Amino acid sequence: MDCGLEIRQARLSDAEKIFALIHLHRDELIVRPMGDIVKNIDRFVVAGTGGRIAACAAYAVLPEFGAPVRAAAEIQSVAVLSNMRRRGIGRRIVGAILDRIEALGVQEVLVLTFAPEFFGSLGFAEIPKTQVMHKLYTGCINCTKHADPFTCPEKAMLKRLG
Ligand SMILES: CC(C)(COP(=O)(O)OP(=O)(O)OC[C@H]1O[C@@H](n2cnc3c(N)ncnc32)[C@H](O)[C@@H]1OP(=O)(O)O)[C@@H](O)C(=O)NCCC(=O)NCCS
Repeated sequence: MDCGLEIRQARLSDAEKIFALIHLHRDELIVRPMGDIVKNIDRFVVAGTGGRIAACAAYAVLPEFGAPVRAAAEIQSVAVLSNMRRRGIGRRIVGAILDRIEALGVQEVLVLTFAPEFFGSLGFAEIPKTQVMHKLYTGCINCTKHADPFTCPEKAMLKRLG
């Protein structure tokens, strides 16, 4: 049961609510400045009803040297309000993000997460963090919570598309 929430493209009018939702989950997510959310609003999906949102998720394509088709995507900023969990909203919102990523021709999707059971249920499998050094360089290098990405409890997980 999901209370009739609509899964839809985020709009600029959602940006403050997305900011607040991510901030509410700052222990599990990387907080994002408003400017970053606005700049990437086209990469956010939200679950909402009326003017309210109960969940958000986003993605980024991670460029690599070499063949462009090898670029992976990363799932980011996945949060569902605590009183709305275990109703399939997370699955639906990440599913919507995966559809977009697949439409771009991306073949590998990464996530760094404290919710491995959730992503495992969506077909992601844990991989060694040494396989995602490019991601560690672009994201974890600026982490203010953990000094060392290799001792941080977040799991690196991968799903192959197509
Ligand atoms: C992780 C999170 C997004 C899951 O959202 P959700 O809407 O509750 O997830 P769903 O209801 O779609 O769950 C789908 C499946 O994932 C698994 N799952 C979800 N939450 C789980 C949990 N806490 N423990 C174990 N398995 C879990 C289950 O298999 C579940 O299916 P089921 O309910 O039929 O058993 C949500 O708990 C959350 O916002 N957590 C805080 C932020 C966070 O950690 N985000 C991920 C960082 S990338």
